[in-house]
Amino acid sequence: CRGMKNSNSVTPFKGGGRKHHHSGGEEKLPPHAYKTADEAYRAMMRGLENSILMNQKGSNSNSRGINKKKGSIDSAPTNQSILVSGESGAGKTVTTKIVLNYFAMLSKKIADDELLQRSSSNHHKHTEGLSKRFSPRANALYSPSSFDSEEEQVCIEQQVLQSNPILEAFGNARTLRNDNSSRFGKFIDIQFTSKGKLSGAQIETYLLEKVRLIHPSVGERNYHIFYQFLAGASAQEYNMYDLEGMSVDDFHLLNQTGTYDRRDGVMDGEMHADMLDAMVTIGFTSETIQALMRLMMAILHCGNIQFTATHEANARGMSDACMMEMTHSSVAAARLLGVKFEDLSDALTYRAIKAGNEVVHSPLDKVQSEKACEALMKATYGAAFDFIVNKINESISNEQVPHDSRGA
Ligand SMILES: Nc1ncnc2c1ncn2[C@@H]1O[C@H](COP(=O)(O)OP(=O)(O)O)[C@@H](O)[C@H]1O
Ligand SMILES: [Mg+2]
Repeated sequence: CRGMKNSNSVTPFKGGGRKHHHSGGEEKLPPHAYKTADEAYRAMMRGLENSILMNQKGSNSNSRGINKKKGSIDSAPTNQSILVSGESGAGKTVTTKIVLNYFAMLSKKIADDELLQRSSSNHHKHTEGLSKRFSPRANALYSPSSFDSEEEQVCIEQQVLQSNPILEAFGNARTLRNDNSSRFGKFIDIQFTSKGKLSGAQIETYLLEKVRLIHPSVGERNYHIFYQFLAGASAQEYNMYDLEGMSVDDFHLLNQTGTYDRRDGVMDGEMHADMLDAMVTIGFTSETIQALMRLMMAILHCGNIQFTATHEANARGMSDACMMEMTHSSVAAARLLGVKFEDLSDALTYRAIKAGNEVVHSPLDKVQSEKACEALMKATYGAAFDFIVNKINESISNEQVPHDSRGA
């Protein structure tokens, strides 16, 4: 059984306290995050109970009529979906987090009730387990393979929640309307056990706005990750990624917009620490985290690469060409990407055309080379984002549940 959530497009649940929940005449009130989440969860559990009872009925024809009320709310389907929609800044991302947190809380409650029951029948064994359950940091120190099955359940709740700081670092940016605007669409598929515990999730992302990487608009920012890393990185990291003496305004990708800060009081350095914590909880190794940061800084350096127009003699006379300037950033970009300077330069300033069995290299002009460099940055960033989503899914997926119907 599973609940689903789509966070992408119209109808905010902004403001409004929990009073919506219990006040009379609820029908007329606009949707509210807790109420919607609670109703979906209850409907799923009802659907589950019904299907279990129906199965029992099927195997025992003498059972008394269960679930006769056709079309009533009791015949709610097990699978539920929640659509979170609204214009930019309406509160979709915040609402999605509230809903996820609520599911995680319900799930934990069930897990803890089970644990209490078990520990009262076997009080030596599990007393320690309870305090562990609520400590994400403690969980983070263990690799998934070292969990026994109960701890793994709790870990999944934490991991599902912890996917947010990571996806937001790489997929959110400050726009004119929202300092934490998601620049991608998201579909979260949440699975529950028959007891109502969270058992796994899958996140699908759509249409990351890659053009922002190259052309962020005035008054907006590029993706959070760059500002967060530059604010939170250690001196050693500055050294490792050739950043010494540099700051946000030294990078073309970041300094075109004249906007470096956030208005919502969120500190980039703190967000970087949160993201690293989240990555550890999800199971990113330190090598993977380093490789990702290295790629991000390679992209920043790539943004500073400059080409100078030249001419090159060929069979038809002279043609426009260009050369990649050897600067601090171009050297750093090649080094961080793990390629030789000449190889990066050739890749960005020449085009290889296959003519028959021969490969002909013809020069690109300055504008074409700049486009090639932009394409490299976008492709690298896009691949890193996809890698991160896959990595998160690997850790939060529930392999036992087949991936069947999920639309609705
Ligand atoms: N329920 C809420 N309570 C308090 N502030 C909220 C709430 N929902 C949204 N906000 C504020 O509005 C901002 C934009 O919300 P967000 O969820 O990022 O919008 P969207 O995802 O729809 O573009 C948030 O950063 C937060 O400051
Ligand atoms: Mg959003």
